[in-house]
Amino acid sequence: MTNTQDFRSAMNLADYYSPSDGGDTAFSVVAPLVKFGPSSLREIGVDARTLGMSRVAIFTDARVAELEPLAVVQESLRKSGVDSEIYAETEVEPTDRSFKAGTAFANEGKFDGFISVGGGSVMDTCKAANLYSTYPDDLLAYVNAPIGRAEPIPGPLKPHIACPTTFGTASECTGIAIFDLLEMKAKTGIASIRLKPNLGILDPNNLKTLPKNVMAANGFDVFSHAIESITARPYTQRPAPASSDVRPLSQGANPYSDVSCIEAIRRVGVSLVDAVNQPEDKHYESLMFASLLAGIGFGNAGCHIPHGMSYAVAGLVRDYQPDGWPTDHPMVPHGISVIVNAPAVFRFCAASCPERHLAAADAMGADIRGASLADAGILLADRVIKMMRQTGMPNGLAGVGYTEADLKALTDGAFPQKRVIDNGPRAISWDDLHEIFKDALTYW
Ligand SMILES: NC(=O)c1ccc[n+]([C@@H]2O[C@H](COP(=O)([O-])OP(=O)(O)OC[C@H]3O[C@@H](n4cnc5c(N)ncnc54)[C@H](O)[C@@H]3O)[C@@H](O)[C@H]2O)c1
Ligand SMILES: [Fe+2]
Repeated sequence: MTNTQDFRSAMNLADYYSPSDGGDTAFSVVAPLVKFGPSSLREIGVDARTLGMSRVAIFTDARVAELEPLAVVQESLRKSGVDSEIYAETEVEPTDRSFKAGTAFANEGKFDGFISVGGGSVMDTCKAANLYSTYPDDLLAYVNAPIGRAEPIPGPLKPHIACPTTFGTASECTGIAIFDLLEMKAKTGIASIRLKPNLGILDPNNLKTLPKNVMAANGFDVFSHAIESITARPYTQRPAPASSDVRPLSQGANPYSDVSCIEAIRRVGVSLVDAVNQPEDKHYESLMFASLLAGIGFGNAGCHIPHGMSYAVAGLVRDYQPDGWPTDHPMVPHGISVIVNAPAVFRFCAASCPERHLAAADAMGADIRGASLADAGILLADRVIKMMRQTGMPNGLAGVGYTEADLKALTDGAFPQKRVIDNGPRAISWDDLHEIFKDALTYW
């Protein structure tokens, strides 16, 4: 392949979606209801009223509680006559302990609605508090199998407006709530369409106070959502569901997700390095919009191996404490736990759908003139590694404290994440995953 036109048309070809024996023949599109724009948060009082809220629990965390977005929300609710109480105890990178504490607050307050103002940690905790206060049960009831019992949520939840003050997780668009189960040292979550917020308000002004490292980590999370969605196993290769009502949320790559995700990758490629090193308002808008586009994509397609690996990378942390996050406990923040794996995954998986890896490298800003399909994985990995260095991200797994001696535990931790690992472009064995972790130890 010698010119960009060739791979662009390859990207458009329906070949990736050719039918397979027993494979699915349809995909569904779940579109979030969102509002986007600078100062859009000021409209939340009317939005809350429209959703029938009269007394709301506002979930936030200790740092965001001191910032302007929370004051904007309170003022707008007050003007619309909506009563509110604040819960600012949310743990950053929440745990089962903090999900339970949030639920206790929700139980006490007799609320008829929920508003979350914060990052993924806050939005996810708010979803869990809404769920467990509406349909009380033990925590594992609704948690994904095999760790939990994955019972269906019995009915609708109370209305929830999610207002991200970070970007990347797209939790405002998804029916997912993620937490660390402390006794198992494992990240897991709850996934149900019923957890999806009724409205997401994306106000790029909220990003102005984000620390540099959080900006970088979350930018790479957006990128990884988008690249994993376009390189996921095509929906036509996933076994057809026994009945249409059990088609999974993570359907695999599909033509709808492709459109939003390639644009998300382009925006991250254009904006992220400057947003971290010399931010301007235009970068906040671009990255928050990219986050939304990628969120729509991975909400329908699903993530795969870099995210599957990230659960073990975050869960087994020993003493890593990056600048920009609270320092009360060691953590590998989500975006970092994903991006340290991603280049190694591209090198391993690119041969399964090289056009898509090459299209992503091009969208990220790599020079692909004269490239061949065989170069796709290396080109994309090199481009991402360069941007990791330009934005101060850690140098692979070693950069967050792991050594060769940890590879087995990391592989054992990630391999059971079947739901995500199986959504990758090729089937991988335990040994393959071990090899990918090994390749992710250091990049430069
Ligand atoms: N539900 C989903 O679909 C989904 C998807 C991906 C990740 N997640 C989860 O989301 C969590 C990560 O969320 P996150 O990356 O958005 O960050 P976060 O909520 O963990 O916050 C990171 C840090 O940034 C601070 N912060 C937030 N907004 C700020 C602002 N505007 N200015 C200054 N500081 C600010 C927070 O106080 C915190 O210290 C993880 O638990 C991850 O597993 C959820
Ligand atoms: Fe993510």
